[in-house]
Amino acid sequence: MSQFKDPSKALEVLKEFGPDGLHMSELIDSRNSGGLTYNDFLVLPGFINFPADSVSLETRISRNIALKTPFVSSPMDTVTESEMAISLALMGGIGIIHNNCSIESQAAMVKKVKLFENGYINEPIVLSGDHTIHDVLEIKRRLGFGGFPITETGKLGGKLIGIVTMRDIMFNKNYSTKLSEVMSTDLVTAKCGIPLSEANSILERSKKGKLPIIDNEGNLVSLVSLSDLVKNHDYPLSSKNPETKQLLVGAAVGTRMADRDRVAKLVEVGVDLIVLDSSQGNSVFQIDMIKHMKSTYGNKIDIIAGNVVTREQAANLIMAGADGLRIGMGSGSICTTQEVMAVGRPQGTAVHQVSKFAREFGVPTIADGGISNIGHIAKALCLGASTVMMGGLLAGTSETPGEYFYIEGKRMKKYRGMGSLDAMKDSEKSSNDDSGSQARYFSESDKIKVAQGVSGSVTDKGSVKSFLGYLTTGLQHSLQDMGVLSVESLYGLVMEGKVRFEQRSPSAQLEGGINGLATYEKKLYSTS
Ligand code: IMP
Repeated sequence: MSQFKDPSKALEVLKEFGPDGLHMSELIDSRNSGGLTYNDFLVLPGFINFPADSVSLETRISRNIALKTPFVSSPMDTVTESEMAISLALMGGIGIIHNNCSIESQAAMVKKVKLFENGYINEPIVLSGDHTIHDVLEIKRRLGFGGFPITETGKLGGKLIGIVTMRDIMFNKNYSTKLSEVMSTDLVTAKCGIPLSEANSILERSKKGKLPIIDNEGNLVSLVSLSDLVKNHDYPLSSKNPETKQLLVGAAVGTRMADRDRVAKLVEVGVDLIVLDSSQGNSVFQIDMIKHMKSTYGNKIDIIAGNVVTREQAANLIMAGADGLRIGMGSGSICTTQEVMAVGRPQGTAVHQVSKFAREFGVPTIADGGISNIGHIAKALCLGASTVMMGGLLAGTSETPGEYFYIEGKRMKKYRGMGSLDAMKDSEKSSNDDSGSQARYFSESDKIKVAQGVSGSVTDKGSVKSFLGYLTTGLQHSLQDMGVLSVESLYGLVMEGKVRFEQRSPSAQLEGGINGLATYEKKLYSTS
C-alpha cells in the first residue's frame, strides 16, 4: 500500500491541517507583536478565477459619499490644490484642498473643481502685449509648451487681444521684442458655454493649435488646446455628484471660531466633504465643530474627523456625529510627531483597531500617512480602512502646487509637512484667520513653535493621472492575487478568515526586496 494519501482527497487533508497562515486578529495582536505596520506582514495569495480588470475598487470615504477608487490626496500645500483635486476626482478618488491659505483662496480652489469641464484649460498661462519673446522662451523652457493667449491685462479675465505661438517668434532673434509686435491677431475664438465637442470641431476646422474661449465682452475665460484634444480621454470612473454632475471635492478646515466662517464659504461654493484637520482629533474643539456643523447644515455635508489612532479617540468623534474618520499619527513620510511628541501608534495597528470599531457604526475610515507603494494601499484596505490618504506618494506629480527645480540634474518638486516651520511661516503670511498649518500644529498661546514635520523635495513623477492609473491597475492585480473580487468584500473575507496573513521577519523583509544586483533601474510602470 502506498505511503501517500490520495491526491483527490487533498481538500479533506487540508481541513485536517487547518487554515494556513494567520487570521487578522492573530496578526494584529499588538501585545505580542509590539505594534504592526505595513512592512511587518504579507497577505497570503488566494484562488484566481477572474481577470484583474473585473476587480471593483468601489468604496466609501464617508457615510454618504461613494467613490470608484479608494484614493484620497492629503490636504497639504505641496499636494492638493484644484489641479490635483480635479485629477483625483476624474480618476475616481477625491482631493482634499488644503487650508494653509485665506478663506477666499481655498473657496476659489473648491469652486474651480466644481466648475471643471473636461477638456477646457481653465487656468491657462496668459501674457500681456508688453511681455517679450524672452518671457515666452523662458516659460517654454520651464513648462514645455509655447502658445499663450494675450490679454490687455496680461491675466485671465482680461480682454483678449491676440495669441502668440512658437511659430510667431521662431525666426525673431531680438528677444526683447514685445509680444504686441509679433502676436497673431486674426483670432478664431468660441463663446463660453458651448459644448466641448463643438469647441473641438471649431478647433479642428481652424487648423490652429489653440482655441481661446471668451465671454460676451470678449474677455478670456478659458482655452482649448489641440494637443489636449488629441489626448482627451473619457473618465468613466470620475467621482461626481449624482444630481449636479459636478466633480466631488473635499476641503480641510481647523476648529477655531474663524473656521466656522470658512466652512460657510466652502459650503456656499459647493464643497462636498469637510475634513477637520488636526493631528490629534480627540478634542472638545472638534466635538464642538462637528455639533455646530451638524446643527447648521444637517446632513448636507459629510464631516471627516480625526486624526485618531485609538478606539477611545474614535468613540468620542463618532458619538459627536462624524461621518468618517482619518487614522494616523506620526506615520507620515515628512512627519516627526512620534519623535518629538512621544505620541502616535504604528499605522497597521492603528488602522485595524480604529476601523474595526468604526465599522460597527457604519463609519468608514481613511488610512492616512505612510502609504508609499501599492502594497501598502492593499494592506491598509485589508486592515479595515475604506480609503487611503496619500501625500508623499502623489508629491512631485505635475498637478501638485509649486514649480519644478533641478538638483544634480534631477527634476524635483518641494514636499513639506504642514507642521514644518516652513509651512507655518507661509500660513502666517497667507492666512488672514490664523488657520491652516498653524492651527493644526500650534496653540494660540505658543511662544515657541515646535516643528512636527520637515520640508524636503521629491523627484518628478509626471502626470498624476497616469500615476493614478498605475495605482488602480496595480491594486486590481493585488486583490486578484488575494482571490478577492472587490474592495467592498475584502474586509469581510479578512474577518471570516478567508484572506490570511503572515508576519514578516527582518530577514523576510530583506528577501522581499531587490537582492544581489550590482546595478538596477526601478521603473514603476509603462503606459504603452
Ligand atoms: P505621507 O503620505 O506619508 O507623505 O503622509 C501624509 C500625511 O502626513 C498627511 O495626510 C497628514 O496626515 C500627515 N502630515 C502632514 N504634514 C505633517 C507634519 O508636518 N507632521 C506630521 N504629520 C503630517
